[in-house]
Amino acid sequence: LSPFPRPAVQDAPSSALALSHRPRRNRKAEWSRRLVRENVLTVDDLIWPLFLIDGTEGRHAVASMPGVERLTVTEAVREAERAASLRIPAIALFPNTDSSLRDPNGSEALNARNLVCCAVREIKRAVPELGIVTDVALDPYTSHGHDGVMDGDRILNDETVALLARQAVLQAEAGADIIAPSDMMDGRVAAIRSALDEAGFLDVQIMAYAAKYASAFYGPFRDAIGTNATLVGDKRTYQMDPGNSDEAIREVALDLEEGADMIMVKPGLPYLDIVHRVKDTFAVPTFAYQVSGEYAMIEGAARNGWIDGERAMMESLLAFKRAGADGVLTYFAPRVAEKLKAQA
Ligand code: PBG
Repeated sequence: LSPFPRPAVQDAPSSALALSHRPRRNRKAEWSRRLVRENVLTVDDLIWPLFLIDGTEGRHAVASMPGVERLTVTEAVREAERAASLRIPAIALFPNTDSSLRDPNGSEALNARNLVCCAVREIKRAVPELGIVTDVALDPYTSHGHDGVMDGDRILNDETVALLARQAVLQAEAGADIIAPSDMMDGRVAAIRSALDEAGFLDVQIMAYAAKYASAFYGPFRDAIGTNATLVGDKRTYQMDPGNSDEAIREVALDLEEGADMIMVKPGLPYLDIVHRVKDTFAVPTFAYQVSGEYAMIEGAARNGWIDGERAMMESLLAFKRAGADGVLTYFAPRVAEKLKAQA
């Protein structure tokens, strides 16, 4: 039985097709399109990733991410205030650590006065109502650019997890609201959860980069945090194979079991099928990261006049909502928020 029973076709003008269904009717005017629209993007869906850099010199452009800059702590506080005034719920912080501070074990990650911790403290003091997400992984701090410590050419899982748990507690002490492990080590969510709980941070959330793929789309990010030049080899022994989908479900299940409050899929647009599957399967808060390479593609094409950048930005973000994401980490966040505000 058809779910769309055909009503009897009335006598139509002879030139008209005898169609019983004309889906275009609902699209005939803007008011009608608004009325039947299934998904919308709002400012509540945005997390804004910011890059930090030491020093007092203000802002430094990221060549492969036109429009994105690395910010000193002072400038980051200014941008955090802007985020709050635009009602963006949260920002995420990523440090470009001075190369003199990077070593094979990523020791600077465990410095309670490192760039991220200082920025968190300053931002919390200035804008307490803004959510702060901090990234847990060693790559901004290691001289080899990997997310963990190494033995020869192997990334050591359990030794790394012990360090990540300590890194997470330091970030929580600084005032981070959401800890976001992006390292893809096994068992890190459980270790971080128990370390946070032991330190009394029962309310600090964990947003697990549960399904994070070994992707070419991270290139401009590595430029921004200064790991492109130094990265030895690739991250395929810990980040996921782009050919896999069932494995993402397993990774998410494990992270949820270990205590993740929210799940992230990364990259974004090329992995919308994963976002959809994850949301469908687990019905938990699910986020997607529109990563640096995705930003660069849209912004690069727009700046060359090849696409309408504003529309591509809005359409790409709406696509995440349609796929089932509850929110998106995007470098476009302030521009989107301003646009939505102007439309309101
Ligand atoms: C590293 C990390 C990466 C990103 C976020 N955290 C890069 C990587 O895994 O090499 C990428 C974000 C982006 O490309 O915008 N732990």
